Parts: sequence; structure tokens; C-alpha cells
Amino acid sequence: MKEQLEAIRKSALDAIGATGASAELEALRVKYLGKKGELTAVLKQMGSLSAELRPVMGQMANDVRASLEKAIETQSAVLAEKAMEARLALETVDVTIPGKTVEVGHKHPMYTALDEFNEIFINMGFEIMDGPEVEQADYNFTKLNTPDDHPAREWSDTFYLDEESRTLLRTQTSPMQIRAMETHGVPIRMISPGRVYRKDEVDATHSPMFHQIEGLVVDKGITMADLKGTLNAVIREIYGSGTKTRFRPHHFPFTEPSCEVDIQCHKCGGQGCPTCKGEGWIEVLGAGMVHPKVLRNCGIDPDEYSGFAFGFGLERMAMGRFKISDLRLIFENDVRFLEQF
Ligand code: PHE
Repeated sequence: MKEQLEAIRKSALDAIGATGASAELEALRVKYLGKKGELTAVLKQMGSLSAELRPVMGQMANDVRASLEKAIETQSAVLAEKAMEARLALETVDVTIPGKTVEVGHKHPMYTALDEFNEIFINMGFEIMDGPEVEQADYNFTKLNTPDDHPAREWSDTFYLDEESRTLLRTQTSPMQIRAMETHGVPIRMISPGRVYRKDEVDATHSPMFHQIEGLVVDKGITMADLKGTLNAVIREIYGSGTKTRFRPHHFPFTEPSCEVDIQCHKCGGQGCPTCKGEGWIEVLGAGMVHPKVLRNCGIDPDEYSGFAFGFGLERMAMGRFKISDLRLIFENDVRFLEQF
């Protein structure tokens, strides 16, 4: 029995010292010290020993048990330490590795132009209003004094969303004149920037989607002089204080009289050059005195109130402001282009 115990001690200690994981260690504990373990098996034979030998062997068996328990405990600590080291090695942060640079974006040039524009109008006491891009034909056309048979309502020009031509992608921001008067009432001073849609092929100056900024002023005693004064002041803020303007007669169904406003070409000073297509002037907006029918359509008495409205093209304004030659650059979102602003 003595040899048996010694053999167990030796093989067990060797095995324990060789373990690499705590699960293996636990298996060995069961193998040697468990209820059905090898040491227990030897102890069960104690009954067959003589009375002198029994306490000696008992003592020795306890010794073996104690040394195995101690060895398991020590090895367990060793394994825990190793596991910790492995984890630390895995999670090491190398503070000398260069960091990842975060690229910070910036405002699109067109929105920079829009912000400047909004600022000018806010300073003049205008409100900024927002409206739907999916619009009713009633608002986009009818209430704007553009009857059913008007050529502007052609399917070839407008993105209709139903067969009956009742809903559409707005072709202009002018429906916001109606919405503003209906919801806000008069007097009113507002601008409303937003997207508009037309069936145009893409080229250097056209896109099926572009941006307009509508403006509307309605109050008692508003005249064409207010229209000219306001627009001249705004244009000089945007294009420079010396900018010359020209108000040309034009036609819009919802304004009377109507005009288009040109600025003298900043490139050639009016001589004519490629930028102004030889004209010497560049068109920047349409405007006019709100048609009495439009006022009436919104429940406003044209004998008491009058007003003016205008519509700027935002892309064109950004192109002038930043000397951008091709409209497509504004929508392509090529970072090499956008980074320049
Ligand atoms: N809505 C017109 C257009 O798209 C511009 C405009 C707005 C004209 C307001 C007069 C008054 O061409």
C-alpha cells in the first residue's frame, strides 16, 4: 500500500504540474481526490490492514491528499496568472501608433449661399417658411391664376403623380405664396426656400431638380417701388454694393405687372462675354406685384391690400457667388469640388 500511495503522489504531482488550463486541473482533482478517485480507492482497502499499520498508512494517505490539494491550489494560481498575462498581452494598447484622422465635413457651397440669403432677409424682418415638395395642382397652378388649359401645366413639363393631374412635384416655390397667405394671413413678409422639379434634361444650366427661394410681401400700400427697393438692396448685399440691376417687363400669371431682374455681368462689366453669353446682363430672378385674383383666391381684398412676390434661383445665385461655371458640379457631390469652398 505504501508503494501504491507513493505512486499516486508521484503521478498526480507530475500531472498537476503539467496542466495548461483550469479545466484539466479540475479533471485531475476528480481523478485523484474525488469520491471515485484513486486515492479514495486506496483508502477503502485500509480495513484489510493490521492494527499497527492502519494508523501509519492513514497518516501517509492524509499526507498524500494534503500535498495533492496544495499542488492543485498552487497550479491553479499559476494558471490564473498565465491567463491574466495572456489577456493583457492581447489587450495591449500601443500608444505610439498614429491615430485615425477624422475627416470633418463642411457646408455645401449652395447652402452657404442660402444661409447668407436667409440672413439678409431675416435682418429685413422676413419670416422663413417651409412647404411641401409634393403639391396639389390647385396650389401649384390654379390658385396662382394659372388655369387648366395653360401651357405651363403640360405633362411634358411637369412630374404629375396621378392620372388626373391633381398631385405633382411642385414646379416652382410660388405655391408657398398661397399657403403663406392662407395660414398666416396679412400683413406678411416671408421667404420660402426649397426644391422644385421640372422635366428638363441635365446640362450645364439645367437639372430636373433645382432650388428656388420664393418671397412674398403683402400689406396696405405696397407698391412697385417697394419691390424695386427691396430687391435692389438684397442684390447689392449678395453681389456687391456697386452691382447694376435692370428690371425688364415679363409675364407671370400670378403677378401683374411682372418683371425679370438682371444684374450687369460682373465678369465683363456689361461688354458681353461667355459668362453672360454676350448679353452683358445675367438674369437672377422673376418678380411682380401680386395679381389681384391671387389675393382674392386667398380671401384677401385687393382694394385694401397689395403686395409683391419674387422667385430667386438658388443654384444660379451660388454659381455667381462662388464663380461656379457648371450647374452639374453643384449636384455631383465630388469631394474634390466641394473641398474648394
Ligand atoms: N415662380 C416663377 C418661376 O418659377 C418666379 C416668380 C416668383 C415670378 C414669384 C414672380 C413672382 O419662374
